[in-house]
Amino acid sequence: MPRPSDAAEIMQRLGELAACTETRGEITRLFLTPAHAQAISLVCGWMQQAGLSTRLDASGTLVGILPGPSQDAPVLLIGSHIDTVRNAGRYDGCLGIITAITLAARARTLSLPYAIEIRAFGDEEGVRFPVTLTGAHATAGNFNQTWLAARDHNDITLATALANFGLNPQALAENTCAAHRAFAYLEIHIEQGPVLEAANIPLGVVTAISGAARFEVTVTGRAGHAGTVPMSQRQDALTAAAAMILAIRDIARARPNVVATVGRLTVAPDATNVIPGTCQFTIDLRAPEDALRHQAEHAITAALHAVAHADNVALALRQTHEAAAVTCDPRLQTILAAAIEKSGLPIRHLPSGAGHDAMAIASLCPVGMLFVRCAGGVSHHPDESVMESDVEAALHVMTQTLQSLTPTDFAPGNPPA
Ligand code: HGY
Ligand code: MN
Ligand code: MN
Repeated sequence: MPRPSDAAEIMQRLGELAACTETRGEITRLFLTPAHAQAISLVCGWMQQAGLSTRLDASGTLVGILPGPSQDAPVLLIGSHIDTVRNAGRYDGCLGIITAITLAARARTLSLPYAIEIRAFGDEEGVRFPVTLTGAHATAGNFNQTWLAARDHNDITLATALANFGLNPQALAENTCAAHRAFAYLEIHIEQGPVLEAANIPLGVVTAISGAARFEVTVTGRAGHAGTVPMSQRQDALTAAAAMILAIRDIARARPNVVATVGRLTVAPDATNVIPGTCQFTIDLRAPEDALRHQAEHAITAALHAVAHADNVALALRQTHEAAAVTCDPRLQTILAAAIEKSGLPIRHLPSGAGHDAMAIASLCPVGMLFVRCAGGVSHHPDESVMESDVEAALHVMTQTLQSLTPTDFAPGNPPA
C-alpha cells in the first residue's frame, strides 16, 4: 500500500480529528473539555511521529518543537487553534495545525537556521468562556489574570477548568507561557469567505485582520402574568431586546465594512405565559479599522439606551473582549507572495474579516497568514470544505516560505520593508 501523499494524509488526519467532539454527529470541541483533551492526545501523537518534542503549556496550548541548529536559535512560530464553535466544520483552525506538523516533518531535512514551534491554541473561538485568544495571548506574554475568573454556563471559572484539566493557573500568573526568541509567526487558515473561490485562486496572502469587540447585554424589565398585565403597563425585557437587536443590525447595515452579530440570547423566566423579566444577549462587532468600529460602538450604545428609556427597562452593557485590527507584516506578505509566484500560482492579497490567533501574537513578533480557498466561503458550519489539491499547494508554498525566511531580517529594530 503506497504511503498517501502529504496532502492526503493531512485530509485523513483532519477526518480523525473531527471525531474528537462532545456531540456525536457534529463537531463541537470547546476549551478544556474531554473532546479538547482527546484532540490534544491525537495531535500530540502526530507531532511526535514527525520528530517533534511536545509539551502542554499552562494555558492549555499544545506545543510541538523542532529544534534549531543551536539551543539559542531564533524560533519561527506556526500556529492556529484546535477548539471549534458549536456544530463546526473540520478545517477552521485545525487545517493550520495539521499542515504545520507535515511542514515541520519536511523541515527536518532543510537545515533551517532557526527552530520551529507549532502552537495548537485551545481557546481561539471563545465559546465556552466569555474571553477569547487566551492561549495566543499567553504565548505573547499577555495573559490577563482577570480572565481566570471568567465563568462558563455551568458557572465553572477558567481557573477551575484549567486545574481540572491538570494545569496550573498559578503558572499563568507568572506568565510562564511566553514564547522566547520568536522572530515571526505564520498561520495557515481557511479563508472563511468567498473571495478566493470567486477569483478561482487557491491561496491568498492576508494583508490585515479586522479588529473585533464582544459585549454582553443584560436587559432587566419586570416579569408578569401574560394574561393580566395590560400592554401599556409592561416592562417586557424581550421585546425591548428585540428592538435593540434590530437597531444594532441597522447601524451595521448603514456602515460599509462594519459587521455586527447577535449570536446568543437567553430569556428568563423563559415560560410561555410569563412576560420576560430579563433578557441577555451578546454582540460581536467588527471592522477593518478600529476607528470605524469605535464609531459604530458609540452609535449602538446610544441606540440601546434610547430603547431602554422608551421601554422603561434597565440596561447593562459589558465589554468582554477586544482585539485591535492587525496589519500582517509586509516582509512576510512579500515572502509568501514570492513563494506563491514561484509555485506558478496567481497571487491575491486580501483582508480577513474573521479573527485569528495571529491578532494576539502580533504584539510579540511580526505575523503573516496564508489563506486557503474554501467552498462557498462557508465556515463555522459542517459544510466547511477545502480541496486536497489546495492543501498540497499550501504545503508547497509554505515549504518554499520556510526556506526564504532569514531571522535577522525580522530582528527588532529592523523596520518592515
Ligand atoms: O470569530 C472569529 O472570527 C474566529 O473564528 N474566532
Ligand atoms: Mn479560526
Ligand atoms: Mn472560527
